[in-house]
Amino acid sequence: MIDIHSHFLPYVDDGSPSAEISLAMLKMAAGQGVTDIICTPHYRGNYKPEKEGLIKDFKKFCELKDAANIGVKLYLGEEVFYDARLFGDIKTAPFSTLAGGKYVLTEFSPEAVTGVYDAALSVLSQGYIPVIAHIERCVRLSEDYIADVRALGALIQVNACSFAGREKKFFGKRVYSLFSEGLVDLVASDFHYSRDYCMDKAYRIVRRKFGEDVAETVFVSNAKKIIGESL
Ligand SMILES: [Fe+2]
Repeated sequence: MIDIHSHFLPYVDDGSPSAEISLAMLKMAAGQGVTDIICTPHYRGNYKPEKEGLIKDFKKFCELKDAANIGVKLYLGEEVFYDARLFGDIKTAPFSTLAGGKYVLTEFSPEAVTGVYDAALSVLSQGYIPVIAHIERCVRLSEDYIADVRALGALIQVNACSFAGREKKFFGKRVYSLFSEGLVDLVASDFHYSRDYCMDKAYRIVRRKFGEDVAETVFVSNAKKIIGESL
């Protein structure tokens, strides 16, 4: 499995308060069969890391991971809260795209009613592809609206724990419904140290309910395109 949305990197946001905890988190992911992880710290509010500094922090953490012999490959990205000005020129923007490629992990307010469509259009018109983070949390967006955003070329991501962990009671039905309508492109962990890691359980649920092909698509092959292995 490949995890394209996660908060493993220590110190930079609310993902992990120490390198030791981050390494333990990585071991947990590796133990669940995850081979590749994109670290996506928040870019919003108080969390707006300076780009070069973040790259240095990321490299340091990769060295620690190698020294600890943890067999996962790491990539850098960011989970960027959408703001039209910030996204005005993505090429020169102060945030990192997913694995440095053309995909941008884009977060919207849970209260979002409209605006996601226009935001996706703007990102696409600049030659980038928006990956809409945990869309199940944007409860005011209808499935028809999400289908329209997806039809533009945006990718739809849901969180593993929204249907296989502690948030199932809030979002489980919605995620199943999105799967039933064929609207899910990616499942990722959105892992913070204070939460569970549910990728393995989520994979098994998707395989059982929606089949092996769907599981392979949303946990592996679509993510591979993002990290560039099959481009
Ligand atoms: Fe996140």
